[in-house]
Amino acid sequence: MSKTPDKQPGDPNTTGHSWDGIEEFDNPMPRWWLWTFYATIIWAVIYTILYPAWPLVHSATAGVLGWSSRELVQQDMIAFEEANAPLNAKLVETSLDDVAKDAELQQYAVNAGGAVFRTWCAQCHGSGAQGAPGFPNLLDDAWLWGGTLEDIEYTIAHGIRNEESDDARYSEMPAFGEILEHDEITQVVQYVMSLTNAQTDDAAAQAGKVVFEDNCSSCHGEDGKGDVTQGAPNLTDAIWLFGGSEEALTETVTNSRFGVMPAWETRLTDAQVRAVSAYVHQLGGGQ
Ligand code: HEC
Ligand code: HEC
Repeated sequence: MSKTPDKQPGDPNTTGHSWDGIEEFDNPMPRWWLWTFYATIIWAVIYTILYPAWPLVHSATAGVLGWSSRELVQQDMIAFEEANAPLNAKLVETSLDDVAKDAELQQYAVNAGGAVFRTWCAQCHGSGAQGAPGFPNLLDDAWLWGGTLEDIEYTIAHGIRNEESDDARYSEMPAFGEILEHDEITQVVQYVMSLTNAQTDDAAAQAGKVVFEDNCSSCHGEDGKGDVTQGAPNLTDAIWLFGGSEEALTETVTNSRFGVMPAWETRLTDAQVRAVSAYVHQLGGGQ
């Protein structure tokens, strides 16, 4: 700090600090700035009185206007449901076969059903309904439990092998590890593989055909084409729910599988079940 030169009349006020001859002015804040600053303080006080503002332990001060973004969303949702109520009622009242004949209703069902699907079904069946091992692809023509609109609606409403609905679709493939000899399992697996023309051991497959007729055809059919009344998959279409490799087939036959799908009648409204059924049916594979 160097010595401050003596103040002359007319010089601006300074703080008295000086660095290498550069001095620090001591001017009052500009009026416009000061008033703006006071205005923001007043605005903040009024705002925190009117609107939710100060955080508390579990929530926040509510504000005297009672405004709540959550309530606004709820009101929007109620308004939305009221707007759709007539269509939802019509969807439930219309017989299944007639839904598709009413273009407006079908359009509504498919859109609403798509939204239901993305929320409730996509985590198991995939966002595009393409399925995953153990979770069937809903885009193709292969149906475990039937692909008519009626079949699909029943499956969705009551589910499969769950404990929630007494009307759930149910069947159980025995675990053949406890029934057949190891060789017989190897043979029947070779036979199942031969149904889709995979490279197989012919002699084993031939022996496996007999094992199949005795143990498997009651559910999967003499020709292996499956039975939708029992949810027994077609074994000749090369579409595998649990895998078609020798290893996966041996596992299926030895320990069996028990695919479970929840019942939706308890979680969704009738209109939602119907809408998502229409959505699944029109994905491409509906019969
Ligand atoms: C927790 C997983 C899970 C969820 C969530 C789920 N599913 Fe499923 N779904 C399954 C399984 C597993 C199967 C096959 C069961 C079997 O092996 O027979 C299945 C089967 C089906 C079938 C029968 C397919 C056929 O070939 O006959 C339809 C239709 C279906 N699901 C639709 C839906 C719809 C619509 C939803 C949403 C409302 C849904 N699923 C939600 C697991 C699920
Ligand atoms: C009581 C009826 C029943 C009998 C008997 C039966 N199955 Fe099954 N099988 C089923 C059902 C039901 C499923 C579907 C299980 C599921 O989805 O969880 C199935 C599934 C399968 C699968 C899986 C198909 C896929 O797409 O992944 C194979 C393979 C199979 N069975 C082979 C056999 C063979 C081989 C035998 C005889 C040794 C046999 N099954 C006997 C009912 C039966």
